[in-house]
Amino acid sequence: MHIENPQIVALLPELGVELQHGVAMSQQTSLGIGGTTDLLRIRKHEHIPGLLNLLDHHGIPHKFLGGGSNLLVDDGELPWVVLQLVPSEPDVVLEGNFAHVDAAADLGRTVTYCAKNDLGGMEGLIGVPGTVGGALRMNAGAYGMQIGTYVREVKLCRAAERRIETLRGHQISFEYRHTSFAPDDMMLSVTLELPSKSFKEILQGIRICNEKRRSSQPLGQKSAGCIFKNPPGASAGRMIDELGLKGLHVGDARVSDRHANFFVNAGNASAKDMLTLIADVRERVDKAFGVQLENEVVVWNA
Ligand code: EPU
Repeated sequence: MHIENPQIVALLPELGVELQHGVAMSQQTSLGIGGTTDLLRIRKHEHIPGLLNLLDHHGIPHKFLGGGSNLLVDDGELPWVVLQLVPSEPDVVLEGNFAHVDAAADLGRTVTYCAKNDLGGMEGLIGVPGTVGGALRMNAGAYGMQIGTYVREVKLCRAAERRIETLRGHQISFEYRHTSFAPDDMMLSVTLELPSKSFKEILQGIRICNEKRRSSQPLGQKSAGCIFKNPPGASAGRMIDELGLKGLHVGDARVSDRHANFFVNAGNASAKDMLTLIADVRERVDKAFGVQLENEVVVWNA
């Protein structure tokens, strides 16, 4: 979708928004898949309600992009614009055991920065690509930890009400890859309370997680991490592997040879290829195990 209306184009800079025309979403997602649309880069949180009102007034639908690492975007010219936060400077501020983090901050760099300041707890997340806001919304986790454990406060924009609000940790429920945030809530910043640990000890934990990840996941390839959530008490990856589906492909969309719950873009996969592969694998798992796998990856259909 293209924003051409000169009235809107003129107002955006006043709202601290940079408009980029015709951005390929394949360049914004770790899967390297997705069509084109206009990208609105937001620098000032306080103007977000005004921006949403403006887009609404002109009938321009929007989607909110984090780091693009857990996302499958449709092909072609997309029927909505995409909003993305630009990280503040600095994007992490420490105060004792509290880390105040901008939602647009890179997750890995945040974990490392906290570690260097003797704040641990998030070692498991070190290799997870994406932003802190994205991790928060999905309650990202790995190796026995999840980010929700450390959340004390979240500033967000309630898109439905066009209101910026601060929630305390106890007002939010964090479950396995699920939170009580509304689908259109926009994460703006978060305060984490992290346990004190020496950098040396944290580094040891980080090395162990990195090693486990390297040995079991296709890190060098274009993917969105795990495609399906694990069903209670089972492993989606193991089930897909047991069916001998590693290497199964539709065009360049392929079940990873290394980890069967990672589907990779081995070249020029389209969203259609990837969605067909997802549907095929889901059906085979259902037939063999009677289990309906639920997507972990977020899909933006046009
Ligand atoms: N397994 C296989 N074949 C495979 C993949 C896995 O047999 O192709 C077996 C493994 O040998 C292991 C079991 O399945 O016994 C579980 O595998 P793994 O330890 O890799 O964990 P997972 O359940 O597949 C989860 C998260 C990952 C996270 C790892 C490590 C989900 C959907 N996945 O994977 O998160 O990195 O644990 O904690 O919860 C993600 O969220 O995108 C993601 C990759």
